[in-house]
Amino acid sequence: MDAIECIKTRMSIRKFKPDPVPLEILMKVIDTAKWSPSYKNSQPWEVVIVSGEKKEALSKLLVELLEQNAKSCPDLSEPLSWPPAIETRIATLMKKRSELTGKDLNAPEVRKKSKMVNFQFYGAPHGIFLFQDSSLSPWSLFDMGLFAQSLMLAAHAYGLGTVPQAFLTDYAQHIKKFLEIPQSKRLVLGMSIGYPDLESPVNSLKTDRLNTNQIVRVLE
Ligand SMILES: Cc1cc2nc3c(=O)[nH]c(=O)nc-3n(C[C@H](O)[C@H](O)[C@H](O)COP(=O)(O)O)c2cc1C
Repeated sequence: MDAIECIKTRMSIRKFKPDPVPLEILMKVIDTAKWSPSYKNSQPWEVVIVSGEKKEALSKLLVELLEQNAKSCPDLSEPLSWPPAIETRIATLMKKRSELTGKDLNAPEVRKKSKMVNFQFYGAPHGIFLFQDSSLSPWSLFDMGLFAQSLMLAAHAYGLGTVPQAFLTDYAQHIKKFLEIPQSKRLVLGMSIGYPDLESPVNSLKTDRLNTNQIVRVLE
């Protein structure tokens, strides 16, 4: 698969086969992602992969916190409002996902259930958490975004599926404690990774994008 095809065919996967991915392949994915560019080659990324019993225990902890209605406290705060044009795009996504699942994803109980499956890594055999020092500037968050996209593209090229998950940062402090990561680091993103279950209807959602002429102006 060439780079263009890889970028255009990657999609978020929300149902995985339970089969574990050999560690060697997961390491190759990270080994590829580390070639992402970063501000002054600062490489502000630290990666934790969780699998097996450790992943199950973390999942259990997160689900318990959710069931206790523990207040979520991500290191990057959840946006409370969006400009109208962006709000419309988000509403379109939620409508499509609601139609696909037959559930109103904006309803509080459904939202809670949806968080729960996020915390269960959508059935993936591995979770990936991306950290960096909290003192770093917004440029380092930008760099982490580049790293995350490279990681997802490399995974896709190796036949794996991924989904980036802000929800997996909800209980950042608990996650850091569990993973033995200093609280001085910020948890930027969580991700599920594994072999995609392409038979599952939830993986049939191909999101759309604006027309290119809506996002670019060419001045000559
Ligand atoms: C920073 C970020 C956070 C996201 N958080 C979640 C999440 O918590 N749960 C989830 O199911 N999808 C999450 N997504 C996936 C987006 O919904 C998805 O990327 C978007 O709808 C476009 O679809 P695609 O990835 O299939 O192209 C997130 C994506 C990004 C980039």
